[in-house]
Amino acid sequence: MSPSQEPAAISKSVLSLIGNTPLLELRFPDYGRTIFAKAEYLNPSGSVKDRLALCVISDAESRGLLKSDSVILECSSGNTGIALAMVGAAKGYRVKILMSDTASVERRHLIRQFGAEVVLFDAGCGYSTGIEISRAMAREDSRYFLPCQFENPLNATDHEEFTGREILSQMGGRVDGFVAGYGTGGTLTGVGRALHAANSKTRVVAMEPAEAAMLSGESPCCHMIEGIAGGYVPPLLRNARLDGVLKVGSAEAITMTRRLTREFGLLVGTSSGANVLAALRLAGELGADSRVVTILCDRAERYYSTRLFEQA
Ligand SMILES: Cc1ncc(COP(=O)(O)O)c(C=O)c1O
Repeated sequence: MSPSQEPAAISKSVLSLIGNTPLLELRFPDYGRTIFAKAEYLNPSGSVKDRLALCVISDAESRGLLKSDSVILECSSGNTGIALAMVGAAKGYRVKILMSDTASVERRHLIRQFGAEVVLFDAGCGYSTGIEISRAMAREDSRYFLPCQFENPLNATDHEEFTGREILSQMGGRVDGFVAGYGTGGTLTGVGRALHAANSKTRVVAMEPAEAAMLSGESPCCHMIEGIAGGYVPPLLRNARLDGVLKVGSAEAITMTRRLTREFGLLVGTSSGANVLAALRLAGELGADSRVVTILCDRAERYYSTRLFEQA
């Protein structure tokens, strides 16, 4: 089989490769279900976060908030940091990323490879500590620009305008269910809004680790689905309309992620496996001909040092 599409015309910048990702049909005969997965891992820095990075930096530029000596400063478990580092490299801005010391070492390497700086903080205290550190740094030095991914409403509106509308168009307008994990909640909130606006009966469901099921009212504990459920319910998700919550355990997420790689050739990270498992469960509830969509969030190369790559 040869490549299925005509090559795109000449691209002037890596930034023009962000978004408009393919939607893959995944058939699971053993579940008796077919689900649809938005291949966000094909964004140029390897994750869904390229959309947020481009959107907030372009917005800041248009409002005159970024100067030639500005430093983009963000607290990130990795993917947002990598995406901001890429956009900063392509646009010529300095980038500094505050990162939990538990985030995989590959993520630090990728950020540094783009020429950005990584500052590690103690993970025992959760994301809010990194956010507080970044705020304190910004108070003392006006060169810092904070994208504030956890609170910035652009995070959700960009997914509403682009990711959500792309899904609707690719699905021919019919989506019965959408399920995704949440880090900032931007993807789930924004895509959910677009889908509900098109059809209020679409079931928009949050996936969360069984070990840290905070939306289900449980206490957060350690889990192995990196990039999601950082220990608190993010502000962007607090007012979002959710039609349900599905729990996925870390071990079963890893098993499904390996299956996606070995049976479907999808070299994706653990949250993608968790999302696909949740999508199969939602499709199980909605019926054999239901059209359930989820997200393949990021590429696997940032997980070499994690359980995902231990030989099973
Ligand atoms: C691997 C991975 N999956 C899922 C998400 C969730 O995305 P969002 O922040 O839009 O909720 C993230 C966010 O950082 C992530 O890194």
